[in-house]
Amino acid sequence: MADGGFGRLIGRKRHLLGIAGLDPRAVASVLDLAETYISLARKGGARDVLRGRTVLNLFFETSTRTRTSFELAGKRLGADVINMSPSGSAMAKGESLLDTATTLNAMAIDVLVVRHDQAGTAALLAQKVEACVINAGDGAHEHPTQALLDALTIRRHRGTLAGLTVAICGDVLHSRVARSNVRLLTMMGSRVRLCGPPTLLPAGAAEWGVEVFTDLRAALREADVVMMLRLQRERMSRAFVPSSREYFRFYGLDPEKLALAKPDALVMHPGPMNRGVEIDSSVADDLAHSVIEEQVEMGVAVRMAVLDLLVRDARRNA
Ligand code: CP
Repeated sequence: MADGGFGRLIGRKRHLLGIAGLDPRAVASVLDLAETYISLARKGGARDVLRGRTVLNLFFETSTRTRTSFELAGKRLGADVINMSPSGSAMAKGESLLDTATTLNAMAIDVLVVRHDQAGTAALLAQKVEACVINAGDGAHEHPTQALLDALTIRRHRGTLAGLTVAICGDVLHSRVARSNVRLLTMMGSRVRLCGPPTLLPAGAAEWGVEVFTDLRAALREADVVMMLRLQRERMSRAFVPSSREYFRFYGLDPEKLALAKPDALVMHPGPMNRGVEIDSSVADDLAHSVIEEQVEMGVAVRMAVLDLLVRDARRNA
């Protein structure tokens, strides 16, 4: 926010392409605004904020939480929201992504929310369309609104992100959630531990300003927050773990391993969960620790705040 706006400026518009490109002030501003939207996220009531604006959800990968919460967020703020999938569009007839972008541009969309399996797709579209582009997940690169909603959830419980020990465990290699969270949490003063089997830890992770572990028990010791990641089999070109049963034994979070973390440790998961693979149901459903449902709830408030900030800036610069 050094130049007074939220997100990355390309041309005359700002875009949320990743946590990279935000600074602590920008993160705090979106979390603070999201706090004010929590009750409105539940029941609506701020329909003037985006009245007359159009938000297009363009999802090339499956999604339950992100797509639905962007739709709800836009509607709560009064926007017209359109959902488009490649199978239901002219892309199924061979139209390219960039031709699709040009077509959408001609319809004067205000915000384009895009998820794609290729890293950099949101950034590419931001160069081609006049809409504000929000990255809803690009390959294993970034998922910025997930990291923001995770940060809001943690901050609501701990009052701060600074000084916390956060263990992010599981399939780090394929995880855009891990990358966005590492960027955000280290920027805000958390100590981040990454843990997974050697095959699922990215080369060079130790240079991300984190501690790297292959022993889950060691990674969990005295952690304030435990964030479990799904095995992302859809991104795996080969077998990275011997079997789900063996993976759960060494890397699955169960009550016995969780007991190594702080007594009041928060358990998080971006979803979708694979119960019995990376997390045991008794932990996922234990409301003394698990804030997994609250993460989903905070997703609507955070996405309302992101839409508001980007459109407000676009209006100012129109
Ligand atoms: N966390 C997340 O991105 O979930 P969805 O795939 O359901 O959107």
